[in-house]
Amino acid sequence: MRVPAKVNLALRVGGTDSQGFHELGTVFQAVSLGDEVRAETAPAGEFKLAFHGEGAAFLPVDDTNLAIRAAKLLVRRFDVPDAGVALTIRKRIPVAGGMAGGSADAAAVLVACNALWGLGLTREELDPMAAELGSDVPFLLRGGTSIGTGRGVDLAPVMTAGTYHWAFALSHTGLSTPSVFREFDRLCDPNPTDIPAPLLEGLRAGDPVAVGASLVNDLEAAAISLQPGLAHTLRLGLDAGALGAIVSGSGPTCAFLAGSDAHSIELAESLAVFSGVRAVRRAFGPVAGAQVLP
Ligand code: C5P
Repeated sequence: MRVPAKVNLALRVGGTDSQGFHELGTVFQAVSLGDEVRAETAPAGEFKLAFHGEGAAFLPVDDTNLAIRAAKLLVRRFDVPDAGVALTIRKRIPVAGGMAGGSADAAAVLVACNALWGLGLTREELDPMAAELGSDVPFLLRGGTSIGTGRGVDLAPVMTAGTYHWAFALSHTGLSTPSVFREFDRLCDPNPTDIPAPLLEGLRAGDPVAVGASLVNDLEAAAISLQPGLAHTLRLGLDAGALGAIVSGSGPTCAFLAGSDAHSIELAESLAVFSGVRAVRRAFGPVAGAQVLP
């Protein structure tokens, strides 16, 4: 299975619901920086998880991991007899980076275990379980470019033209999503959650300059408050000619829109020299959601 990461081209944050979740208006784009997830048969009742790749050593492999929770949710909901699975995940999506790496793995596990156990569920039937696992999981099943409203799980596809090239600057340390939302509550008033019209027009027209100028993230001030160096990273990318620069989701990864693949290489080179940047990755979007590799 391959599953993409996401970047939020717009992330508008409103007030909270009765459970403390914020009302969102967001535009997700799935990008080609992805994890690979393998699901293999295991004896009944055995749920094993192993990670390889970047940051793998720091990830829990017990029932607290969203990947295991996804597999067990399927078993509970569909009463799968003798279910067991051995999951192996190769991480490329930065851990605790604001690109939904954990949610991506959970989306991939839903699709992979559906196939492994021959459940024959459609994507639509997987959707409610995805939403239960996390606000980004339904989008990562779907991929492409979508507007997300409510908690982020009510999705509507967005018409887009062309391919968008990105450089992503990874931070030395991660940020936890709940702590960034708490910092938002401390610093900011709830915003209207409407998506900027020029962003949607730019996407429809395939105009990266218009898209770059309309990127918006209401969580950015909160992420910068927790990691002040991010302001410098964003400035560096803009000075190097990025068409737009935002913190990705709850951060701390910073996303820079380039005009072409070659431009993304130039941006990546400029960003890599800053000591506040741990590594730079390039990717393009939109790409498909969680899918079985040929
Ligand atoms: O849905 P998910 O588990 O990915 O969310 C992680 C955390 O982010 C939540 O526990 C909550 O603190 C915050 N969140 C929020 N409003 C949303 C989505 C997430 O406050 N719409």
